[in-house]
Amino acid sequence: MKSRKNAQSRTLRASALVAVAVAGITVSGCTNEDPTKNADVVKGKKLFVQKCGACHVLGRAGTKGVTGPNLDDAFRIARVERWGDKGIAGVVYGQIGYPGRTTLMPANLVKGQDAKDVAAYVAAVAAVPGKDTGLLAAAVPTPGGGKPAVEQNGVLTIEADPNGQLAYTQTTATATAGPVELRMPNKSGVPHNIEIEGASIATNIVKSGTASAKGTLKPGTFTYFCAVPGHRAGGMVGKLTVK
Ligand code: HEC
Repeated sequence: MKSRKNAQSRTLRASALVAVAVAGITVSGCTNEDPTKNADVVKGKKLFVQKCGACHVLGRAGTKGVTGPNLDDAFRIARVERWGDKGIAGVVYGQIGYPGRTTLMPANLVKGQDAKDVAAYVAAVAAVPGKDTGLLAAAVPTPGGGKPAVEQNGVLTIEADPNGQLAYTQTTATATAGPVELRMPNKSGVPHNIEIEGASIATNIVKSGTASAKGTLKPGTFTYFCAVPGHRAGGMVGKLTVK
């Protein structure tokens, strides 16, 4: 089957990545480092959600990005083959520094100890069933926890999740029919926009700052969503009621 084949080719590529990572370490003159040593996995989880989650599914991190491979699937065989957290962390760490020729995954999204923290977190949870507990569970708030957005003086503000998750803080909104300015503050560093389906109101895409667009609302129920590929499917949607 296609998916199984993909998983195998990923594992093969993952093995190649170990070689790349080791080569990189030799070049930089370090010894065989263990990214999990003294790693702060709570920080690693926060950084993973912010810097990686918009492109990767990782069940325990609650991330839903689909631009890159699903990281639970990517490391399932490695887990069965008992590479151990250290082995998996080495691959993730290598991938962060040397993502290869793909233009889709930028190199060095996190650096130094941050990269080790991310690698250690992914290694601790990828393809591990269950849920994060304790400090890890509390590391990143559940997205979409905000009160409904309410239009005020012609302005409707709906915030992108500040932690980089594929969600808006407000999952429902209300407005009155007529002219409106739609605003989307985005503190996450992940590119997002907001569009109201069927209303011809769409902001530009921003990584930080506030995106805004003007238009006119008619009464009805509408869906608002992020048009960056994969983000709507990942959960970046909400319902707007116009009266
Ligand atoms: C802009 C999207 C994007 C971001 C952000 C991103 N990745 Fe990726 N990642 C990809 C893509 C696409 C691939 C597949 C590369 C390829 O085709 O070879 C990938 C591959 C990987 C792989 C290899 C998986 C496998 O199947 O071999 C790992 C591990 C990984 N990424 C980890 C991370 C980590 C950790 C971060 C955050 C520091 C991150 N990625 C951020 C897009 C992204």
